[in-house]
Amino acid sequence: MDTRIDEIAAGIYRLSTFVSEIAAPAGFTFNQFLIRGEEPLLFHTGLRRMFPQVRAAVARLMPVERLRWISFGHYEADECGAMNEWLAMAPRAEIAHGQTSALVSLTDMADRAPRILADGAVIDLGGDKRVRYLDTPHVPHGWDAGVMYEEATGTLLGGDLFTQTGNGSALTEGDIVGPAIAAEDMFGFSSLTPGMPGTIRRLAGLAPRTIALMHGPAFRGDGAAALRALADSYERRMTAQDGARLAAA
Ligand SMILES: [Fe+2]
Ligand SMILES: [Fe+2]
Repeated sequence: MDTRIDEIAAGIYRLSTFVSEIAAPAGFTFNQFLIRGEEPLLFHTGLRRMFPQVRAAVARLMPVERLRWISFGHYEADECGAMNEWLAMAPRAEIAHGQTSALVSLTDMADRAPRILADGAVIDLGGDKRVRYLDTPHVPHGWDAGVMYEEATGTLLGGDLFTQTGNGSALTEGDIVGPAIAAEDMFGFSSLTPGMPGTIRRLAGLAPRTIALMHGPAFRGDGAAALRALADSYERRMTAQDGARLAAA
């Protein structure tokens, strides 16, 4: 397993590790995103067992002890399993996440108290980078779920949204909705809640130019259209499930 590094938007780096055993034969990627700035931010820590490898990848881009912010989609091993290793490595690093994540998991599980972000809160990373935190409860899973949006580059750090299998190019301008629907069919990883399409459509309002997938390539193009199409697909899935339930009743 090696970790490849690609700059997917100005000053935003995708660190990608491919694991061929998961969802074989296609395999599965685990991606972290480093935003350079005076106060660098790492979105997703990687699995705890992957820490030596991710640390080595970050070290190719900057001194690891300079890391200032750690954030992620929600409390799960691939999102934040190595958070305490990072806190130990980088003395000024703080975990930044929403209130639910902090109160449910992080105040107990993290070795330093997290910075609690309100929905819509902004962290200025210096340089020209600013990240906005947005609560996305249960989307695509986890009631503590949230995403970040880097405003200067128009990059949505979407976590598990649009998850897909395989190991293609770092950046695509092609379809990311079809592969996400196929992965949903395979894993059933999303919480199909009534609020879900609306939460995804709210993200479409950001009109991101790049969407950074945690599991898959980064997408460059009309992010609003991709998000609206994803919301539509989930809505159709829920309608079909309701129909099947009624037919069986
Ligand atoms: Fe997840
Ligand atoms: Fe994930």
